[in-house]
Amino acid sequence: MAKILVTGGCGYIGSHTIVDLINNGFEVVSIDNLSRSQASILDGVKKITGKEIQNFEVDLSNDGELKSIYKDLKDIDGIIHFAAYKAVGESVEHPLLYYKNNIGSLVNILEASKALNIPHFVFSSSCTIYGNVQKLPVDENAPMGMAESPYGMTKQMGEAIVNDFVKANADHQSILLRYFNPVGAHYSAEIGELPIGVPANLVPYITQTAMGIRQELTIFGDDYDTRDGSCIRDYVHVMDIANAHTKALQYMLDGKMQQNCDVFNLGTGNGVSVLEAVASFEKVNNLSLNYKIGPRRQGDVVAVYADNSKAIQQLGWQVQYDLDEMMRSAWEWQKKLSS
Ligand code: UFG
Repeated sequence: MAKILVTGGCGYIGSHTIVDLINNGFEVVSIDNLSRSQASILDGVKKITGKEIQNFEVDLSNDGELKSIYKDLKDIDGIIHFAAYKAVGESVEHPLLYYKNNIGSLVNILEASKALNIPHFVFSSSCTIYGNVQKLPVDENAPMGMAESPYGMTKQMGEAIVNDFVKANADHQSILLRYFNPVGAHYSAEIGELPIGVPANLVPYITQTAMGIRQELTIFGDDYDTRDGSCIRDYVHVMDIANAHTKALQYMLDGKMQQNCDVFNLGTGNGVSVLEAVASFEKVNNLSLNYKIGPRRQGDVVAVYADNSKAIQQLGWQVQYDLDEMMRSAWEWQKKLSS
């Protein structure tokens, strides 16, 4: 049974990925310093899988702290590195916090992979690296755009760092996964996203508005050049994202890599407008959402959705969940959180 180290295992995508890994027969250990997450999420993982996950409460950006647990990280076959800060606005206000945490942690975990001879590495990247794209759907060969935030820059730099690392270390391999907009929760509602403060992202803002935690949702602009004037994104179910990580690791373990570093888009391929996302939420949950149209949000790209054919063809990935299921499960999780 292959053993995988998941960093950020108590986080949103990390916890869902642990569930998928266990369902596919992997053994998992986690490192999470709980700075933006809660250990209780692993209770949810246990309810779903029956497995107790060991979590090392270590700050990955602290070299010494990570080295102090090297002795506990024996026989690991692969690392999935989620642990990072991800709030775009916060990164603009506190750029050094983002560079120190996201880049420092990445360098330290790569050093660990070298010191401990862990050959396989999966890195969480984002479609944000494409910036304002010229051609839709966007494929992996599209050039990187200007990073519009320090957060986005940490993803661009992260990809470059991982690339350089595997180039210089021929016995290491890596897959970079570029997420579009991960939303939803495990269908059991035992795990889901735990937003901190006022959510910046659309779906948690929708569910909190429906719950009455927020008064109303503001739709940021309805005067874009799109079919209904609102921005278009590629929302993808977090369990589909999770499963792509399992498939990426299996791909490396099976010796299928054609080069030391490869990159895959993770989106459904469907562009969905903000108004369509709201309509799906209202329909599937039989609710009416309080919302208004507001001004555009600075830094928003008009439209972005994935060409996901590479992940489908090479990794054998399949998108299993549609927008309605994303919105249904997000609401079930919100109700659980608020109960
Ligand atoms: N939106 C609203 N109202 C809200 C929140 C969002 O209308 O209250 C709209 C946004 O304008 C956008 C869409 O909903 O059109 C999605 O917004 P999110 O904030 O949920 O997601 P983004 O596409 O902005 O975020 C994604 C990734 C981030 C990445 C960012 C870069 O989730 O990791 O792109 O811009 F950093």
